[in-house]
Amino acid sequence: MNFKKPRGTRDILPNEMEARRKVEGSLRTTFERFGYREVQTPTFENLDLITAKSGEEINDHLYTFEDKSNRSLTLRPELSAPTIRLFVNELRNKPKPRKLYYIENCFRYERPQKGRYREFWQAGVELIGSCRPEAEAEVIALADTCLNNLGLTDYNLSIGHLGVIRALLSIHEVGDGDQNLIISFLDKGETKGLDEFSLPQGAVEDLKKITSLKGKGATVLKKAREILSENDSQELEDFSKLLELLKVSGVDNYIVDLGIARGLDYYTGMVFEVRAKGLGAQDQICGGGTYSLVKLFGGGDVPSCGFAFGFDRLIMALESKIGITVDKGLPKVFVVPETLKVLNRAINITSVLRKQISCDIELMGRNIDKSLSYANSENISYVIIISEGVKGDGVILKNMRTGEQRRVKVKEVPDAIG
Ligand code: HAM
Repeated sequence: MNFKKPRGTRDILPNEMEARRKVEGSLRTTFERFGYREVQTPTFENLDLITAKSGEEINDHLYTFEDKSNRSLTLRPELSAPTIRLFVNELRNKPKPRKLYYIENCFRYERPQKGRYREFWQAGVELIGSCRPEAEAEVIALADTCLNNLGLTDYNLSIGHLGVIRALLSIHEVGDGDQNLIISFLDKGETKGLDEFSLPQGAVEDLKKITSLKGKGATVLKKAREILSENDSQELEDFSKLLELLKVSGVDNYIVDLGIARGLDYYTGMVFEVRAKGLGAQDQICGGGTYSLVKLFGGGDVPSCGFAFGFDRLIMALESKIGITVDKGLPKVFVVPETLKVLNRAINITSVLRKQISCDIELMGRNIDKSLSYANSENISYVIIISEGVKGDGVILKNMRTGEQRRVKVKEVPDAIG
């Protein structure tokens, strides 16, 4: 029988795994420097938690199943709803903000293509307790800092504001339910569909005008103010403050795009996306914004904002732009017993060395020549030959790069290989 992996999933081989762990390490360090602490939630959740507010885009792509007690469950398609559930269940009485991060797998039954998988990883943060401009600016600055620390430069950061769009719709007396539908239309780029919507006169026109605003912050804000005319919009003022704070945080490589709608229903205010150049159709490597879920989950009127990197896409962007430096391979040292008579000594020396360094040993019973050629093909830097002729605690250390061979004591090996 020849088993294949399920459609839309991937096997990740050692070189890529090593690179992924490095990227993960860099993200963890940056998240923690900004005061976030890691959490883990279950791989599956009660279906209701996810369908409560995620929206059509997600609900159509769920891996849903019933357990043996007929509970409706689903594999998590994202981590904001689970993290907010965790907050409401476990942390709601702690001082705010709570700053939580995760690096976990998610599942969406989507049509697989390059950069779009049925199992993928997200590395994200949720700042729970504030959606003030300073909180939103910090969240965007964190995403930008993560990319800088990873050495990725070829990306576009776009920032929008659904609060401003919602304010405009409210001026035209469009209710919350219709606002969500309209925003999901916008997310799919279906502005034509808006004509068929029974919106009050002028609303569609204003909506098209405001969502086509794109460019430098000051210019977009000026035009948006004109569209909202004499109606004061706190959202617009907050947005303006957020952009001012980004500047003092050293983030200026963005454009403002009031056309960003995002595919999830829970967003309420600032929204942003990062697209990496050269990734093709699935180029969005990060998405986030301000959203409201705590109240819906019974935790009171607590705002939150955050984002998630599509970890797999981030890896692809790093591969094609700067190249991921993969370690030469582990281990650095390979122990070879010259004959079976010295096998016990070889094993003993290996276990001593493993207390300090990464060290492997010949396990296939090959002769010296074959062992050396194996070490060569595995990019191993040093071979230690255990020979009957070398007594006591001496071994032969062979440098595989230069071919140089010399006698050293076992305890000298870690220093000798540098
Ligand atoms: P999202 O935009 O649905 O937002 O997903 C975040 C990122 O996950 C996307 O930008 C993309 O890079 C990646 N992604 C999504 N679907 C796939 C897929 N099928 N294959 C590969 N990568 C994918 C959220 O999930 C929100 N929870 C983000 C957030 C956190 N907002 C506030 N806090």
